[in-house]
Amino acid sequence: MNEDYVLELEHIRKEYPGVVALKDVTLQLRRGEILGLIGENGAGKSTLIKCCSGAVIPTSGKIRINGKEFDRMTPQLAAENGIAIIYQEFNNVKELSAAENMFLGRPIRKGMVIDRKAMEEEAAKAFAQLRIKINPRELVKNLSVGYQQMIEIAKAIQQNAQVLIMDEPSAPLTNNEVESMFEVVELLRNRGVSIIYISHRLEEIFHLSNRIEVIRDGEYVDTLITKEATVDQLIRMMVGREMTQKFPPRKPCIDESKVVLELDDVCGNGDQHMSLKIHAGEVVGLGGLVGAGRTELAQVIFGAKPKDSGRILLNGKEINPKSPREAIDLGIALVPEDRKRHGALLGVSIKNNINMPIYKRISTASVISSGTEKATAEKYREEIQIKCPTIGQLVKNLSGGNQQKVILGKWLAADSQLIIFDEPTRGIDVGAKFEIYKLINDLVEQGRAVLMISSEMEELIGMSDRIIVLAERQMTGELTKDQFDADTIMAMASAVVDQRNAG
Ligand SMILES: Nc1ncnc2c1ncn2[C@@H]1O[C@H](COP(=O)(O)OP(=O)(O)O)[C@@H](O)[C@H]1O
Ligand SMILES: [Mg+2]
Repeated sequence: MNEDYVLELEHIRKEYPGVVALKDVTLQLRRGEILGLIGENGAGKSTLIKCCSGAVIPTSGKIRINGKEFDRMTPQLAAENGIAIIYQEFNNVKELSAAENMFLGRPIRKGMVIDRKAMEEEAAKAFAQLRIKINPRELVKNLSVGYQQMIEIAKAIQQNAQVLIMDEPSAPLTNNEVESMFEVVELLRNRGVSIIYISHRLEEIFHLSNRIEVIRDGEYVDTLITKEATVDQLIRMMVGREMTQKFPPRKPCIDESKVVLELDDVCGNGDQHMSLKIHAGEVVGLGGLVGAGRTELAQVIFGAKPKDSGRILLNGKEINPKSPREAIDLGIALVPEDRKRHGALLGVSIKNNINMPIYKRISTASVISSGTEKATAEKYREEIQIKCPTIGQLVKNLSGGNQQKVILGKWLAADSQLIIFDEPTRGIDVGAKFEIYKLINDLVEQGRAVLMISSEMEELIGMSDRIIVLAERQMTGELTKDQFDADTIMAMASAVVDQRNAG
């Protein structure tokens, strides 16, 4: 036992059927420190911290709190021993007030009745301590996500937590909200609360933490003192290899003689006069600010929104997709930005997801050929290396990068000629980004055409063969590779096209 540590996890192992989520992970939290816990998607961060609260029962390993060993942790025991966790998806009740949420499941009573007033007073006290302005009577549904998170933190304080564990707390917040959250976290550390802060955003970890623990593929890698660590070193530890290249090399594969997609003065869905060509083997990047009309253009091409005028040609033939279904049958695929909502069916298996667009093709009189279904899914699992125990695994249990691969597998199976990516790597960490870039390369090297919407300048420049920039629903520029330059692209993205002057 070590006096310095408030929480110790030793040799934690967690097996799920078919997956070992944690192999042998150790974590030691010092009194009064902020320990950053980092690792790629699927590394096992959430599983590890759930072991501290009893939400997950480890297959083996030891947990000590203040030197006291626990054979079996339960949520009750964790709370009694001063451990509070703020999960990625906090479970509050939107219809209840801030105060009621703070005392959810453990209301203050006066005799037999619930003492609402006392709860509101206690809540107000906790909010004041954190210097946050929330009316304890306000219904949670009227509060922003940032405030909802503050309520969770206040709850931990009210319960006198000694250890606060936060799982990707910045993910749902706006920049301003992140700053307020940082202030509260630092305030708590100064009061002696020990904090585990999980994030894959390294700037945050550098800003807040005293030490940083890295885990990878369910295994402990190392713990560093923040002041002595560098970004490159941490990335290398997270990814497990040198990341000298951000963008994988691509073989020259553009076939100028083959125009896969042509837009000829297309107007629709708010966008005006869109003209462009994408060749086989080419990645055309679509740059611009949020709201410039890039997603809207993708929707028109994908048949999700009607066009008002102009022509769309696929492989030289005019098409008029009236629905995504039609577009898919024609050979167009869209990998949307919000893949949780639109890209993959999360509650469904990898196998079903991959076969989704081709069920019609592989069925005879409505009977699906299960052999073909399985073979197709296995083929793409192998080809694009979807990391999963079996193709029967539900997509929601995969990491973000692997979810993205499933979506891709689905469009490969559908034999799409044109693949439109809308922010392909948003919310994905470094290692998985590289994998996605490799997949995009594979697609074009096989003669497909890619239209890639991206707000990340580096990605746009690193991956595109040509860049087209939109601003306020119009095209404001087109650059060939030798003209790529961040300032030029930004200027084009901010250009206001004044129709009256132009006309
Ligand atoms: N309930 C579960 N059933 C099966 N596998 C799971 C479950 N929860 C997590 N996993 C798997 O365990 C691994 C670690 O996941 P997780 O702890 O969520 O990683 P992180 O939080 O670092 O992104 C992943 O491969 C994930 O698919
Ligand atoms: Mg997680």
